[in-house]
Amino acid sequence: MPTAEELIRQLIGKLTLRTIASQFHEDSPALSPLHKDDLFSRGFFHLVQTAGEISPRLNASVVLVPTTSGPLKKIDVVPGFISIPTDDENVGDLSEKLKPILECLCALPIIDDDRAWASETEALDMISRFLTPMMPPALNNWVDVTSDKTMGLMAFQGMAAHRLEPLENDPFGAAYVVDLTWMAGYSVRAELEPYGAAAYFGSDRTLLRVYTPHDDTTHVPGDAGWEQAKWRWRCSLFTAVTLVDHLGGIHLLCSNIMTVATREQLPADHALRRLLSPHIFGSTNVNVIADFVLSNPRGMAFRLFGFNYPDLVRLLVRGGANVAFEPFPKTMAAKHLDVLGDLYPYATDGLAFYNIINDYVRDYLEIFSPARAQCKIAQFDSGGIPSLRWPRMPISPRSKRSVS
Ligand SMILES: [Fe+2]
Repeated sequence: MPTAEELIRQLIGKLTLRTIASQFHEDSPALSPLHKDDLFSRGFFHLVQTAGEISPRLNASVVLVPTTSGPLKKIDVVPGFISIPTDDENVGDLSEKLKPILECLCALPIIDDDRAWASETEALDMISRFLTPMMPPALNNWVDVTSDKTMGLMAFQGMAAHRLEPLENDPFGAAYVVDLTWMAGYSVRAELEPYGAAAYFGSDRTLLRVYTPHDDTTHVPGDAGWEQAKWRWRCSLFTAVTLVDHLGGIHLLCSNIMTVATREQLPADHALRRLLSPHIFGSTNVNVIADFVLSNPRGMAFRLFGFNYPDLVRLLVRGGANVAFEPFPKTMAAKHLDVLGDLYPYATDGLAFYNIINDYVRDYLEIFSPARAQCKIAQFDSGGIPSLRWPRMPISPRSKRSVS
């Protein structure tokens, strides 16, 4: 098998795609679970396994004090809506390196493989042999991932917590819901199952019912379709959080806008620029990889999830549109979930963390801009205090080296 670097060299050497594809078509033990004719997935899996070779792990030793400011070269992710800069101030521009690999993969056939595992044991064996070695060590080994109780944990203190909403006057007595029914409005490829479900919980966090919009059916515990309805909600949840909230909302909107605004609008020696630099560290690099590996027309998001590509793009844009540019306490207050207290650690832990960050920023401002340290966030929102000048921080020869 070629390494990613060898693949680039082959492409530069103008070897034909057929030649490269034939290497993925070999009966390689490393690719054996994947359909032999699904050359795209075989190629992509190999790329992910060797990703470290083209994207080295970064640590604080490469962080530099900022020295540049101004317009950045960008590429479109969603033309007219989302573009991202390509030149990371600490590690350079990866986009040219990734481009030939992507063009190669996009030319390969993709197959939605409908073969079923012979047994659960076989599936678990494949996961442990081919995927687990690529993962970091697990902190917790969650063996129960399907029970009604686990669904409650996911909703109140797991990956659905930010989407938990209170209910008033529910006709069946539910007090909370995680509503993902909107996902049914996004089309999937032929013969794939539609997304979308809402899970309803009682005031004691017990799972009471699941509604699935594709067949307009309400499922309750003990129904023949109960487990499948729960499965649809879990799949919808993982997809909504990963694709919409994280990739669209966090990477392509929040992280991207923070990076662009900081690097384009603030002078290199601005006190705020210095404060923000560690918090945008590596984000350009990560977002370029996210575009090439995840969100492009043949990226991992298209391969792993069932959506037709135009609707996958709509979901990325939706992720950005969902982001509320407001302080975390304001978002939590609007949720009206205070009654849960420590049963809802997304709020209690989140607010505690917010206060730590708030103190950290205020302490910094006390040093460099004491008057601003007394400001409320709302004053910054409305343009700050024009009569105050931000201090500039000289860039010494020493500070151009690592700040680790
Ligand atoms: Fe991420």
